[in-house]
Amino acid sequence: MTLRLGDIAPDFTAETTEGRINFHEWLGDSWGMLFSHPADFTPVCTTELGKTALLKGEFDKRGVKAIAVSVDGLESHLNWIPDIEEVNNVKMNFPIIADDEKKVAELYDMIHPNASEKATVRSVFIIGPDKKIKLTLTYPASTGRNFTELLRVIDSLQLTANHAVATPADWQDGDDTIVVPSISTEDAKVKFSKGVKEVKPYLRYTPQPNK
Ligand code: BEZ
Repeated sequence: MTLRLGDIAPDFTAETTEGRINFHEWLGDSWGMLFSHPADFTPVCTTELGKTALLKGEFDKRGVKAIAVSVDGLESHLNWIPDIEEVNNVKMNFPIIADDEKKVAELYDMIHPNASEKATVRSVFIIGPDKKIKLTLTYPASTGRNFTELLRVIDSLQLTANHAVATPADWQDGDDTIVVPSISTEDAKVKFSKGVKEVKPYLRYTPQPNK
């Protein structure tokens, strides 16, 4: 099934390295990051899962729960974890879903047969507290993801969910933001007390409203 932004993230029940979970219950009121990797005991994946564990404080700060998945079984995941911990000098601190029956991979369309018949690609789904999909990304097996970029995107998603702004190219938390086109410059000047700078009638900057 092709999943699109705004769709409800499909629910499932699965075994994980931290016990059996129902996905929606496990998410609770948090944001979620569900991400797939091609296989256990592979080099790029070992760095990606380690990086996620190292960034736990950053995900926690943003109220985001991370969960990984591949089409390997629970025993394989559990045997791999000591390598992730050793290589990245970190304790694993988020669950990996055992998906040897490919239920989650199929639900989230994570197997792209023209890339690989057997393995999941590197998919990322950022899910909001309303269980709706806010962002999807797909990387090939050969390219490890930029987890700093994932945190940056989460900052933008969380900001723009609560304020009538958008974020420009390469925006970083703390930079000026863009007033959404549906608000007139006149109204924006009232709404955004920190000021509005009009570069073009359709491009108006305002300092980040929640800083
Ligand atoms: C990796 O995770 O290292 C990997 C997996 C499949 C193909 C290439 C790299």
